[in-house]
Amino acid sequence: MPNTLEAQEKIESLKQQLNYHNYRYYVLDDPTIPDAEYDRLLQQLQELERSYPQLITADSPTQRVGEAPLSVFDQVVHEIPMLSLDNAFADQDLLDFDRRIRDRLKTDAEISYAAEPKLDGIAVSILYRNGVLERGATRGDGATGEDITQNVRTIPSIPLRLIGDDYPPVLEVRGEIYMPKAGFERLNQAARERGDKPFVNPRNAAAGSLRQLDSRITATRPLEMCAYSVGLVEGGEMPSRHTDVLYALNRWGLKINPEMAVAENISACMDYYRKLGEKRDRLPYDIDGIVFKVNDLSLQQKLGFVSRAPRWAVAYKFPAQEEMTRLLSVEFQVGRTGAVTPVARLEPVFVGGVTVSNATLHNRDEIQRLGVMVGDTVVVRRAGDVIPQVVSVVKSKRPADASSITFPDACPVCGSPVESVPGEAVARCTGGLICEAQRKEAIKHFASRKAMDIDGLGDKLVEQMVDQGLVHSVADLYRLQAAQVAGLERMGEKSAQNLVAALDKSKSTTLERFLFALGIREVGEATARALARHFGNLPALMAADEEQLQQVPDVGPVVAHFVAEFFQQEHTREAIVALQECGVHWSDLEVAARHEPLAGKTYVVTGSFELIKRDLAKKLLQDLGAKVAGSVSAKTHCVVVGGGAENNAKYVKARELGIETMDEEQLVTLLKEQGVFEG
Ligand code: IVH
Repeated sequence: MPNTLEAQEKIESLKQQLNYHNYRYYVLDDPTIPDAEYDRLLQQLQELERSYPQLITADSPTQRVGEAPLSVFDQVVHEIPMLSLDNAFADQDLLDFDRRIRDRLKTDAEISYAAEPKLDGIAVSILYRNGVLERGATRGDGATGEDITQNVRTIPSIPLRLIGDDYPPVLEVRGEIYMPKAGFERLNQAARERGDKPFVNPRNAAAGSLRQLDSRITATRPLEMCAYSVGLVEGGEMPSRHTDVLYALNRWGLKINPEMAVAENISACMDYYRKLGEKRDRLPYDIDGIVFKVNDLSLQQKLGFVSRAPRWAVAYKFPAQEEMTRLLSVEFQVGRTGAVTPVARLEPVFVGGVTVSNATLHNRDEIQRLGVMVGDTVVVRRAGDVIPQVVSVVKSKRPADASSITFPDACPVCGSPVESVPGEAVARCTGGLICEAQRKEAIKHFASRKAMDIDGLGDKLVEQMVDQGLVHSVADLYRLQAAQVAGLERMGEKSAQNLVAALDKSKSTTLERFLFALGIREVGEATARALARHFGNLPALMAADEEQLQQVPDVGPVVAHFVAEFFQQEHTREAIVALQECGVHWSDLEVAARHEPLAGKTYVVTGSFELIKRDLAKKLLQDLGAKVAGSVSAKTHCVVVGGGAENNAKYVKARELGIETMDEEQLVTLLKEQGVFEG
């Protein structure tokens, strides 16, 4: 055991390293050590602190797990009030804003603006004294907020101690705490599975998480903070432009928004607004507009404030992601696996940039939880590529003739009983392939691009074919005659012939595609590939029991159960024979001779390629056993860099992380050596 002095030195060094790596990971999104190494350092620190509890300090990374619950939040008076922003809803509002500024400054010169996404979260103030986090507070009414220090300390992107030595002795950072979309979806998914109440949107989830008196709960919530300005600053030097202030905050350890940019004049602001509007759905967090701020801080000062908003900033809003509308009726849709989903038919409403007339109500529990009735006014949310959802009911607007919603006991399509498995939120039609809805979905899936890839056989066409009794099973597709197809809506002779040719072409496939096309529950593309590789041929797979199935990488007991059950069913076996009789075929893989020299390795492929198609390169790497990932992390083994990628972020990151890289020629050589590519 080290003596106290040695322990103290070691603890200091570990804290510094951990805080730095925390910053690389959560603030810069650019780690330089593997996760496992971080965990080891943290463990060392925990052990030392256990032996020397007197050496635990508030800025130790071990102190982010939350503390004993509070009974009430203290009040915090903001020495400098936290203001709000004026809104703009159209280009003209933005032009007026710019004109007012130039009139007031009595200038014709163009004004340079800082442009930042307006994050949809909770405004906070974080006070650092001598670089150590002293207090976190909500905005409240702008003058007084609540002391949420304990909660703020659990958020990994908020440094407990600032980095460097040139920060002001007193520095109040202001910014937004928010919950990224992915974390929000995960949190809500888990809540629904437990039968708990999901959050309405990421902002409510962030607010609810910060309002916890028990910070140990906050610690489990995926929250982040981006800094967007400073409040009280004492001592030290601050830059003279807003964007430079944010860059300084970033150097000192705070996260800033990577989309932040300088717009040299008001027309550049409009371009930025449009560009980000297009990108909005793809951003990993919700934004509700763009904030434009005069970038020169001395000009900001000259402009000053009106009532509660600065004259030098404006929020140009995007179309709302939540709107009210009326629930006209509820239909129950049956999916490929029989899941019965209630779908709300709505009075069309413009929300999140599109007109929405359907939204999901998820499941029976959700209808109950919302207490929703037909005729109700409901709040619909559409954000990003997530399907529109009914998130709440405006009960005060309920009409006298509102009618309750009954979840069906029998499948609305085939009449088979609908069953709920205890502990599962979904109810399922038990009709299997007797159910026309399940059959339609199964056929659509079979034909889809990543399955049998039947060109020209879209969803609408499948529905017509099943409705008209032309097709009952997937094998029936291969028995179709061009003349039958030509009679369908929006089909002619030529397109009918094309479809028959596409069907014929699809007969020659691979085992992995065929397995995926069968639509076994929980078997996606990756699992289908793993199964094909492991067993090499269909009879071997069909003969495998659950235990043998679990030998396949990434196949657990649940998937093994579904696969075994699927192949035991008589009609599955009949369907497979029927398909083979129609000429569907693939070649078996040589399991014994199968050669996976890259098994266990993760590759990332980036840049443009000339000697080999990029998709083919990825597939061949997978054939050699590698996992091909989309982004570089500490877990990546090799980054393959095509042309034009020298300044590419993935390449730069790979070099920083010390990850092996290869160029296109080296890749082709490797693939040739392994005998999977001839060039
Ligand atoms: S600046 C004096 N910048 O929007 C300027 N605000 O109504 C104060 N917000 O409650 C705010 N992203 O929480 C600013 N990049 C950003 C922002 C932002 C989100 C929020 C902020 C405030 C509200 C303004």
